[in-house]
Amino acid sequence: MALETIAQPGKYLSLQDEILDLKAQRNAIILVHNYQVGEIQDIADYVGDSLGLAYRARETEATVIAFCGVHFMAETAKIINPEKTVVLPDKDAGCSLESSCPGKELASYLEENSAKNYYVIAYINCSAEVKALSDCICTSGNAVKIVESAPEDRPILFVPDQNLGAWVMEQTGRKMDLWQGSCYVHIEFTRDSIARIRDEHPQAEVIAHPECTYAVRMLADVVCSTEKMVDHAKESSAQQFIIVTEGGMLHRLNKEVPGKKFIGGPTENCACAECRYMKMNTLEKLRNCLRDLSPEVTMAEETRVKAEAPILRMLELSR
Ligand code: 13P
Ligand code: SF4
Repeated sequence: MALETIAQPGKYLSLQDEILDLKAQRNAIILVHNYQVGEIQDIADYVGDSLGLAYRARETEATVIAFCGVHFMAETAKIINPEKTVVLPDKDAGCSLESSCPGKELASYLEENSAKNYYVIAYINCSAEVKALSDCICTSGNAVKIVESAPEDRPILFVPDQNLGAWVMEQTGRKMDLWQGSCYVHIEFTRDSIARIRDEHPQAEVIAHPECTYAVRMLADVVCSTEKMVDHAKESSAQQFIIVTEGGMLHRLNKEVPGKKFIGGPTENCACAECRYMKMNTLEKLRNCLRDLSPEVTMAEETRVKAEAPILRMLELSR
């Protein structure tokens, strides 16, 4: 569709203005993950964690969803909204967890172990093919609840994040078989890097994402999803926090919890962790995807239908 914008270069004071105008012309919604750069967060209709974003994607009446996060998040929005156009700024924005568990490998594993009759719980950071092979999806925000509601008479296979899976086992006491995937960003935090920053800020609470390793989680006062980090920072009497997750989180915390101090958790090699996939998105690419309706998320209908059921089960169970 030819939009008014294309014919009028120089009409806008800023790229943000142009994006907001395109959004209105497209009847679009802009959904943004907490790890996006601040300038993208600032023009979002909703900024949140994977769970909140899945709910917003489910509820929206917009015609177009512009998803600023990584590919599996936009793909999830498409799975539950087949009639909508879902676009993302950069189609190559992947995720190391997603790539650690290819659908074909999971299918072979399940076939080889068919006698076990696994109940498969997949962390949302996975492909549509993996979701299609799963019984229920979870996010870091509801993983404990989802595991607690799994049938007790079947063994659980938890894919693809071994660290989130191990943390859920600690919380629930339920034994699970864990796929050996991990997030390349969160495993960069080490016991030493977090102990050092904690010694420098003895008054600060340490809040870590459950994708971190056991050694790092042991040093944390609170382990939770990115959305719960915001809730906790608001409610806690502490005035300083060391945030052990991707650095984009600090923008939202500084904005929504003014007056408190947030310190990015350092890795051995860098002062603040950054996910290269999340940071592939830029305002320019967001403008282009709304203008061109491309790149668009598409998938085989058979896969979509199979992947939708375990997502809807999750949304139902975590209400
Ligand atoms: P949240 O759902 O907690 O935002 O986590 C998503 C993610 O990709 C963490 O690396
Ligand atoms: Fe994936 Fe890790 Fe990036 Fe999250 S931070 S999108 S889990 S690679």
